[in-house]
Amino acid sequence: MSSLCICFLVLCLLKIAAAQPLTDSTEVDALNKIIDYWNLRSNLNLTMDPCTQNAPWAQDQANPKVACVCSTTVCHIAHLKIYALDISGEHPKELFLLKELMDLNLGQNVINGTIPAEIRQLTKMQYLSLGINNFTGRVPPELGSLTNLKSLSFVSNNFNGPLPPQLGNLTSLQQLCIDSSGVNGPIPQELSNLKSLEILWAADNHFTGKLPEFFAHFMNFQVLRLEGTLLEGPIPSNYVALVKLQDLRLGNLRNEDSSLDFVENLTSLSILSLRNCRIAGQLPEKLSSFGNLEILYLGSNNLSGELPPNIMSSSLTALDVSFNSLSGDLRPKRSGLSMNFFGTSINDRTSDGRYVISGTYKSKFRE
Ligand SMILES: *[C@@H]1O[C@H](CO)[C@@H](O)[C@H](O)[C@H]1NC(C)=O
Ligand SMILES: *[C@@H]1O[C@H](CO)[C@@H](O)[C@H](O)[C@H]1NC(C)=O
Ligand SMILES: *[C@@H]1O[C@H](CO)[C@@H](O)[C@H](O)[C@H]1NC(C)=O
Ligand SMILES: *[C@@H]1O[C@H](CO)[C@@H](O)[C@H](O)[C@H]1NC(C)=O
Ligand SMILES: *[C@@H]1O[C@H](CO)[C@@H](O)[C@H](O)[C@H]1NC(C)=O
Ligand SMILES: *[C@@H]1O[C@H](CO)[C@@H](O)[C@H](O)[C@H]1NC(C)=O
Repeated sequence: MSSLCICFLVLCLLKIAAAQPLTDSTEVDALNKIIDYWNLRSNLNLTMDPCTQNAPWAQDQANPKVACVCSTTVCHIAHLKIYALDISGEHPKELFLLKELMDLNLGQNVINGTIPAEIRQLTKMQYLSLGINNFTGRVPPELGSLTNLKSLSFVSNNFNGPLPPQLGNLTSLQQLCIDSSGVNGPIPQELSNLKSLEILWAADNHFTGKLPEFFAHFMNFQVLRLEGTLLEGPIPSNYVALVKLQDLRLGNLRNEDSSLDFVENLTSLSILSLRNCRIAGQLPEKLSSFGNLEILYLGSNNLSGELPPNIMSSSLTALDVSFNSLSGDLRPKRSGLSMNFFGTSINDRTSDGRYVISGTYKSKFRE
């Protein structure tokens, strides 16, 4: 090779390294259509290539945010955030041409209509938030194709029908947030495959059937919120294995009694809320020794026996044991602890006089 040739090659390489690769033109067209569809031109006036380095709309706090992943030859749109900008109407079909999206956040808008099967094209997706919108129809089974998902949220929407069993294919999922989403019916057994799950928010949905036993196999489970459903007890005794749980909230369990024995080993708990869950038996002594426990709500159950005396010197900041057959003394009473003992036989011997002493009424607690 002549030295001229080598020189030319080096120059070419330098040029490639220095040049900003252009964004895939299909994606640029799609993005522009999306911006116009939702009337966002005044928030995001793309006057140059959307993947231009250090563009203002690529910054973390930008909203709308568009950010890219580039190879040496081409850039792709990988992040799109349009959060709380009151965008309304349905979604533009061009959204599904952004096939390299890893992170899509359309949260807190007024988007309506159904989510079409085309969602399955977005297979690179890791973080998908459709929460706080007005989506209707079924939760699409095609969501189960997005097997790279780590986080999926569709809280506060108007879906109907059951959760699709295909969600059980999302085995990388760490967070699933679907409170108040409108779904109903049984929790699919297929969700037992979600072994990486750390956080499940699923309260205020009309779930039916039994509270699943398979949650006990989620070894990284930290948060389980399932209040306000039509689920039936008992609380499975194998939940004793969920030693990483920090926040457990169930409520209104029907049909069968439960015991609190399963909490014995859940020493990471900071919130335990099990109101109206048909829990019978005693309050485990061991709860008093849980160093992180701040909120303990066990109202409207069928607990009996004595309040563990050391519960008052624990880390608690709020305690509700109202409407249970509990007895015992509140000693020593601690300031800064909100308490509700209404409907029990617990004695407040250190009462400041504003509350009935030996009897059933005590309530300073506000939710
Ligand atoms: C977008 O930018 C172009 C070029 O700077 C300008 O002519 C146009 O008026 C802008 N549109 C809006 C909606 O701001
Ligand atoms: C979505 O909302 C718009 C108004 O923002 C309305 O015109 C349209 O009919 C709604 N579509 C559906 C499917 O509900
Ligand atoms: C959401 O949709 C429901 C029914 O489709 C409709 O009644 C309601 O007004 C919509 N909410 C908003 C904020 O558009
Ligand atoms: C996804 O889940 C469904 C239902 O659980 C199953 O029939 C299907 O084979 C799964 N698909 C893939 C690609 O694993
Ligand atoms: C609960 O913890 C104790 C002490 O750490 C341990 O011996 C016991 O095997 C645990 N029980 C279960 C069911 O994990
Ligand atoms: C509470 O449990 C006792 C003893 O098991 C039972 O007799 C009583 O009916 C139960 N009360 C309620 C309200 O379930």
